[in-house]
Amino acid sequence: MNDSDRLVAAARAARDHAIATYSHFRVGAALLTRAGKVYTGCNVENASYGLTMCAERVALFKALSEGDREFAAIVVVADTASPTPPCGACRQLLWEFCGDVSVVLATPTHILAEWQMKDLLPLPFDGRLLTG
Ligand code: THU
Repeated sequence: MNDSDRLVAAARAARDHAIATYSHFRVGAALLTRAGKVYTGCNVENASYGLTMCAERVALFKALSEGDREFAAIVVVADTASPTPPCGACRQLLWEFCGDVSVVLATPTHILAEWQMKDLLPLPFDGRLLTG
């Protein structure tokens, strides 16, 4: 299996672990490092609602907490007719920590779209602005 197929398969498998108790909207994500390692995530909902964590950020935080810092692509899987892109909060963090990676949007059976992060977050706020 090539990196791309492996990443899509990992995101689909991660979706099986989604904790979507309230929305029933199950999401899986898989983040590929430049060295070829894959980190997965699923959404994790909870009774407070507002503390819900998206699949993308789970995958990203797993990778960052393991020391990985260089990324190539992320796959997001949901069971929707239209592609499910990362939410605004995830876009902010994916941009800051992953840069202009490829973002593949898929379902359990199909790949629906592929974007670059720079196109999903035009005019980003990032660390460059903090230095004046
Ligand atoms: N969700 C994700 O995990 N990733 C996305 O890209 C979109 C939304 C989750 C958050 C929440 O658990 C559920 O989907 C409905 O918004």
